[in-house]
Amino acid sequence: MNTVVNWTASLLALGMMLAGASRSYEVSPSQDDLPKVRGDCQSCHPKEARDWAESRHAAAWESETFAQTSRNRSLRMCLPCHAPEPILVKGFGEHPDLRAEERTHGIDCISCHQDANGAYHGTLGTKTDAHATVKNEKFGTVDMCATCHEIFGTVDWYKQSEWGKDPNGCVNCHMPVVERPIATGEGLPPRKARIHKFEGATPEMFQKGVKMEVAPRDGQLQIKMESVYVGHTVPTGPEYVVVIVEAQFLKGEQELAKRQTLLADNVAIDGSDTRLKPGERRVIRHPIPEGAEQVRVRVLHKRNRDLPDDKARVLYESTTAL
Ligand code: HEC
Ligand code: HEC
Ligand code: HEC
Ligand code: HEC
Ligand code: HEC
Repeated sequence: MNTVVNWTASLLALGMMLAGASRSYEVSPSQDDLPKVRGDCQSCHPKEARDWAESRHAAAWESETFAQTSRNRSLRMCLPCHAPEPILVKGFGEHPDLRAEERTHGIDCISCHQDANGAYHGTLGTKTDAHATVKNEKFGTVDMCATCHEIFGTVDWYKQSEWGKDPNGCVNCHMPVVERPIATGEGLPPRKARIHKFEGATPEMFQKGVKMEVAPRDGQLQIKMESVYVGHTVPTGPEYVVVIVEAQFLKGEQELAKRQTLLADNVAIDGSDTRLKPGERRVIRHPIPEGAEQVRVRVLHKRNRDLPDDKARVLYESTTAL
């Protein structure tokens, strides 16, 4: 059942509430260190705002690699999902329209939470004087995330994975639950809140999702990878996004050889798809060069395959004696 507080949140109403007598919220005293977001949500939801500011959703428009691949944001078809109008207006599953204002905020609070009446959707069923809320059981489901993430096959892979039947699978892995008050103010109870960092390709997430084992065997180096906790391929996303598994053979500080294995969606290029599938175990083997004393194995993540290696994010690194 939807509960709609029956007035529309407008700036005027908000101004009146702030000036008014009874209020159950409180604007936090020092806000200098808070990210400014459209709708000033940070003034009452500082934790969500801080976490979101670290997320890739916040970076979706300003992202250098997005600028590179979209011809400096001039390809119109590329823009809507990276700076969308609220997705609740067209509805989950419909590609959003590009918004006119504050595009640098990328996918912000309003993009996900606000509906056509200016009310904010969630699943908690809270009521507040601060703004209208709507309890929406579909909020935070795979269908919501699929609105933008479905075009790269992430959702198809998800549905075939062992988590695929969970309607909240994406948020259960990407928005961990914490019990805490969800807004500033006296006497607000702790609630089931979700961390808004949307961690994806980070070392912590990768190492939780993919078990790595490096060992020499019969004159060869074996790198074993097992996808144990990823509900889609590694990597996932547009074909620009690649992962490289690198083995650097060393004698002291001297590099004797470097071998790289690409995990990428190359279907459009040569028909191959070398991404690691959910649940897959893979062994990468390399001959060990004469005289090698140790091997440094790294997993590199690039948001644009054209980036040089030193601009890649290191998701994993280990050094093994040979
Ligand atoms: C003036 C303070 C204030 C501002 C500004 C504010 N909120 Fe809220 N919001 C609250 C309070 C208070 C609650 C309810 C807290 C509770 O009952 O635990 C709430 C609840 C919510 C909920 C939970 C809905 C549910 O029941 O599941 C969402 C989502 C939300 N706000 C989003 C936003 C967004 C997005 C913005 C900015 C566009 C925003 N809020 C701005 C005070 C504010
Ligand atoms: C990509 C979409 C997305 C963006 C962007 C986003 N949220 Fe959320 N938000 C969610 C989801 C999903 C939930 C959890 C719904 C559930 O399962 O209860 C949520 C929950 C909340 C809640 C309820 C309490 C909690 O923390 O779970 C508040 C308040 C909230 N968001 C505020 C914000 C604010 C403020 C911003 C911007 C700084 C923001 N959200 C940005 C998707 C988003
Ligand atoms: C309005 C479109 C849109 C919606 C809705 C959306 N996302 Fe995203 N998401 C994006 C875009 C675009 C990026 C890439 C941002 C960038 O890096 O430029 C992204 C990035 C991410 C990342 C980080 C990837 C990385 O590189 O680390 C995660 C995790 C993620 N989204 C999870 C979710 C989840 C979970 C939901 C549903 C609650 C969701 N998204 C809803 C558009 C969306
Ligand atoms: C069982 C846990 C799990 C589930 C379910 C899951 N993910 Fe992930 N996801 C991960 C892990 C772990 C990573 C980090 C490894 C990686 O980079 O692929 C990740 C990475 C990502 C990334 C960054 C990918 C990249 O390579 O740059 C995005 C975007 C993402 N997930 C979106 C989603 C969406 C959307 C859903 C729901 C359809 C979802 N995830 C379901 C665990 C999960
Ligand atoms: C339907 C929504 C949608 C459209 C349209 C879209 N993207 Fe994205 N984009 C996403 C999502 C979702 C992600 C996050 C995927 C992931 O990491 O798994 C993303 C991630 C990216 C990334 C990697 C993250 C980053 O910031 O570097 C690049 C590059 C990118 N998109 C470029 C483009 C280009 C170029 C176009 C047009 C050809 C485009 N996108 C059109 C939704 C979209």
